[in-house]
Amino acid sequence: MDGKLYAIGVGPGASDLITVRGARIIGELDVLYAPAGKKGAPSLAHTIVQEYVSAKTEVRTYHFLMQASADDKAAVWDEVAQALKDEVKNGRKVGFITLGDAMLFSTWVSLLERIGRQPWLEIVPGVTSFAAIAARGVMPLAMETQTMAVISCTVSEDELEQTLRSHDCVVLMKVYGRLEQVRALLHRLNLLEHALMMADATLPTEQCWRDLSQSDSELKLPYFSTILVNKHWNTSR
Ligand SMILES: C[S@@+](CC[C@H](N)C(=O)[O-])C[C@H]1O[C@@H](n2cnc3c(N)ncnc32)[C@H](O)[C@@H]1O
Repeated sequence: MDGKLYAIGVGPGASDLITVRGARIIGELDVLYAPAGKKGAPSLAHTIVQEYVSAKTEVRTYHFLMQASADDKAAVWDEVAQALKDEVKNGRKVGFITLGDAMLFSTWVSLLERIGRQPWLEIVPGVTSFAAIAARGVMPLAMETQTMAVISCTVSEDELEQTLRSHDCVVLMKVYGRLEQVRALLHRLNLLEHALMMADATLPTEQCWRDLSQSDSELKLPYFSTILVNKHWNTSR
């Protein structure tokens, strides 16, 4: 079987924050599968890599509906995993692109569960969103003996509190729709001065909040919003 499947992390948003290897492979693909969150909406991952895609590459956009039931989501993952395996069986070079890094909070992992470790599979790492946010916000992540946790704000408030109490540095992903609860928790734990929030990092629409106690309670956040907390760093620095 000469076909090959590449899962490629395309980075946080800026087109030049993809790895050299990722960009080279994208330019050599027969087929590119690009995920989109909403039906009819363009794929952000595809927009990021557009300049590297050859005119000969067939692009297929798949809708991974974030609000769908578990069964509906599983049906799409089954279908896409099967389609990717069929492409490889037919000797094609196929790529699946995903935002940030492919192995962190990524749709790709649901496909990997169905595909498994294979000799014809290569996973290309990407710049994860929190690395980009730390760099753009000039706010370090963990150092030396400090600990760091990465957690989604979709967990219970108890779990969030436990995580914030236990670690020096915490990356809070998926803040969208939960800002008020998270902000109240950070206030209660006296962590607001150590918390920085960034939306759409490295995209032209990037926004950064260094003082979350001052941000508007009506604030409509984009889906790509993350808070970094570092107990050893003040965001006013
Ligand atoms: C499904 S996860 C994807 C994570 C991705 N695999 C990574 O390595 O960063 C989506 C979450 O990642 C974070 N995120 C991704 N890109 C971002 C960006 N450019 N700016 C801010 N947060 C981002 C947000 O917390 C968002 O809710």
